[in-house]
Amino acid sequence: MRMRWKNDLGWSAVTPRQDWLNRRQLMAGAAGLAMLAGPAGARIPAAASAYSTDEAPNSLEDITRYNNFYEFGLDKGDPARNARLLTTDPWSVQIDGLVDRPGSYDLADLLKGAPIEERIYRLRCVEAWSMVIPWIGFELAHLLNRVGVQPGARFVAFETLVRPEEMPGQTGGLLDWPYREGLRLDEAMHPLTILATGLYGEEMPKQNGAPIRLVVPWKYGFKSIKSIVRISLVADQPQTTWNMQAPREYGFYSNVNPQVDHPRWSQASERRIGGGLFAPRIDTQMFNGYGEHVAGLYAGMDLARDY
Ligand code: MTE
Repeated sequence: MRMRWKNDLGWSAVTPRQDWLNRRQLMAGAAGLAMLAGPAGARIPAAASAYSTDEAPNSLEDITRYNNFYEFGLDKGDPARNARLLTTDPWSVQIDGLVDRPGSYDLADLLKGAPIEERIYRLRCVEAWSMVIPWIGFELAHLLNRVGVQPGARFVAFETLVRPEEMPGQTGGLLDWPYREGLRLDEAMHPLTILATGLYGEEMPKQNGAPIRLVVPWKYGFKSIKSIVRISLVADQPQTTWNMQAPREYGFYSNVNPQVDHPRWSQASERRIGGGLFAPRIDTQMFNGYGEHVAGLYAGMDLARDY
């Protein structure tokens, strides 16, 4: 099934950002009465979430032309060029491990009854650039509750598709495929953690991780794994791609932390994409500015050691 995230007024994928902002203001003015069309014609409130930032989002162009998606190449422009090859329909996600209802769920089934909303989040890449992205998605907790997490589960592991014939970056030995990520169960259940299925009110562009990807806004961007095909509930901390690749540089937690530098560069500040060549760098915030919501998850931990 092909997902369409068109709203009732029919934005196009090329809606200029200003129009979209005006539209959002109108929607806010209508006291949350404005709706987005969801799967199977479901009508979903599109009111701004309490978790959304009111910072101006990056342009659709920035968000879809400056990407990290190593399955499609190393350059920032490679995903936009190469991801069009990816077949995203049909799509299914294997859910396994310590769950009551394991199985292969097709995308439409995954989205059934999901409370889809817009979340405007900052995205801070470990490479010290950042963006603001208006995602469309739903809380991962909704799905985990639906499949029934068993008591022994302490972590959630995620895997991206392996399909070298459509993902040219997978033909070389760049990374040990599939791309893998993981969260502690309480991080996965946190309401800020979403599975995103679109952005700017439209279905997810392929270069951003169509048809479904994780977004964990208080962690470095590499934790937000794209084009997910497997979600496993497990007892032990799972292996993650960048930690396997360079354990000294990338820890399991990878919370945004301006006080812990990457071994090869400072994490104290960041470059906001789209600001122009001479825009001043901005200070990076602890937990990417989401500390009031998530700091409690790490009480008693030494985040300089457990990075
Ligand atoms: N997921 C997969 N499967 N492969 C990747 O290379 N790159 C990560 C993350 N998810 C990556 C991935 C990194 S480093 C970042 S910063 C974000 O995706 C970028 O997301 P965006 O391109 O949508 O901004």
